[in-house]
Amino acid sequence: MRVGFIGTGSMGSMLIETFIRSGAVNPENVVATNRTIAKAELLAANYPGLQVARSNKEAASQADLLFICVKPLEFKDVIEEIQALLTPEQIIVSITSPVLIRHLEALLPCKIAKVIPSITNHVLSGATLCIYGDRMKAEDQKRLENLLSRVSAPIRISEEHTRISSDLSSCGPAFLAFFIQKYIQAAVSATGISEEEATRLASEMTLGTGKLLTDGGFTPAALQQRVAVPGGITEEGLRIMEKELCSVFYDLIRTTHAKYEEDLEKVEARFFGTKADEERDAFTSFPYEPPCP
Ligand SMILES: NC(=O)c1ccc[n+]([C@@H]2O[C@H](COP(=O)([O-])OP(=O)(O)OC[C@H]3O[C@@H](n4cnc5c(N)ncnc54)[C@H](OP(=O)(O)O)[C@@H]3O)[C@@H](O)[C@H]2O)c1
Repeated sequence: MRVGFIGTGSMGSMLIETFIRSGAVNPENVVATNRTIAKAELLAANYPGLQVARSNKEAASQADLLFICVKPLEFKDVIEEIQALLTPEQIIVSITSPVLIRHLEALLPCKIAKVIPSITNHVLSGATLCIYGDRMKAEDQKRLENLLSRVSAPIRISEEHTRISSDLSSCGPAFLAFFIQKYIQAAVSATGISEEEATRLASEMTLGTGKLLTDGGFTPAALQQRVAVPGGITEEGLRIMEKELCSVFYDLIRTTHAKYEEDLEKVEARFFGTKADEERDAFTSFPYEPPCP
């Protein structure tokens, strides 16, 4: 299977490198292109055998499975450029959450999938979120998931939960890293521990916690209960966090969903010159009242 990539920015190049490093794909079976072609050429220099296509059309015509890794508002131009070349046997994968399956099915004759990767895939970890259009048959889904499972845990989600699932899986590493950074900064300034030592301790702790929550069989609640013995220090710390942080997560979700709505509206306008209010509301409705103390 020949795997193509249009867009070798942050996520496109991460996916290419990760697929190749994991052995999921040989460089000879990768064709990649990018608006600024030097970025694709750099990948070819690092992975001999990888073919650089000089245009989106060239990449599209050579790939059985084509990842489109451009930003939401860049998507329509790419689609318009390649649509006449595509065939019903090809699989097109969008990694962009506000570009909906129906946007692509309306314009392309191929099988359509949406896959939301995560920076965690770079270390062969974390999830890839999978959403399929009707033309993706069971064997197509299996073929794609076989590839994704070499670098991640492919998890099927419904399109209406794309945003919240992406918040958890793809934005999550940044949010968690922010929390850890703030914890380290407080530790350094309050106690004088070196930043290097605090960072090492927090990073090892994060890795171990991830393992406990996946392979270790703990739920987040069970893990807190296990560590926080009654009357102990952890319990006091958790009490402060419950008081101070609970509503932050609601604000976070409200903010990411508002940005998503904005992006969706712009993409709708780019694709169809209209906006689909009812559908958009259905995609983004969730309870806003934080059940916080
Ligand atoms: N960052 C994440 O963790 C993450 C996770 C999941 C999904 N995503 C999604 O992935 C998508 C890409 O994000 P990114 O962070 O990789 O963005 P990025 O670093 O800006 O990469 C986009 C790439 O697309 C290229 N491009 C733009 N228009 C093009 C065209 N017409 N033809 C060919 N190439 C073109 C750009 O080329 P130039 O070099 O010329 O600019 C750039 O290299 C976004 O929709 C984002 O939402 C991101």
